[in-house]
Amino acid sequence: MSYFYPKPLRYQSLYGISQLTLTEHYKIYLGYVERTNEIRSLLLSADRAKANATYSPYRELKLEETYSLNGIKLHELYFENLTPMGEGEPEQELLLYLGRSFGSWEKWREDFTALGMSARGWAIMALDLDEKIRNFLQDAHNLGEITRSLPLLVLDVYEHAYFLDYMTDRKGYIEAFFRNIHWGVVNRRFRQALAACNACYPFFLPLDL
Ligand SMILES: [Fe+2]
Repeated sequence: MSYFYPKPLRYQSLYGISQLTLTEHYKIYLGYVERTNEIRSLLLSADRAKANATYSPYRELKLEETYSLNGIKLHELYFENLTPMGEGEPEQELLLYLGRSFGSWEKWREDFTALGMSARGWAIMALDLDEKIRNFLQDAHNLGEITRSLPLLVLDVYEHAYFLDYMTDRKGYIEAFFRNIHWGVVNRRFRQALAACNACYPFFLPLDL
């Protein structure tokens, strides 16, 4: 039984990111789809009566499901928020939120770049439904997520995302990432997140940087 089906990659290459890198990266994504389906199948028959916090098959499956399932979701967000040479620009209200959250668009970008240089897995710009736009990093698919935050822009900084093209020059890869951002997708996510957000209103937010 399959629970998840892979989404197709809409492009073969990006500005500064080769077809080889994307092809291999997509294979990694397919692996998360396969493993998540396997875990879901095994969970159907896992013995709940033997559930235990030190070790139990049920516990291990539930734990690895968080890694595998987030591996699907984060890669889909990443691939979706890119398009060759980029498209569109941040909408005005998003710029307003970024200004209130970081001081300015430039400071947000500076912080997001530092985030990408610091993370071991993912750099994420998200709307924290209890406050404001927040940049946070994840060192693994299931390590570092801020609860009640909806991702707006996702950057994969695992070495498989850039090493074939940039070797150790991660900064060069991040600069290429910015050139490829599909802002129409980011704007749509921002609109959807705002609709779910009661506490977010820029004029009432404290400017704590
Ligand atoms: Fe990846």
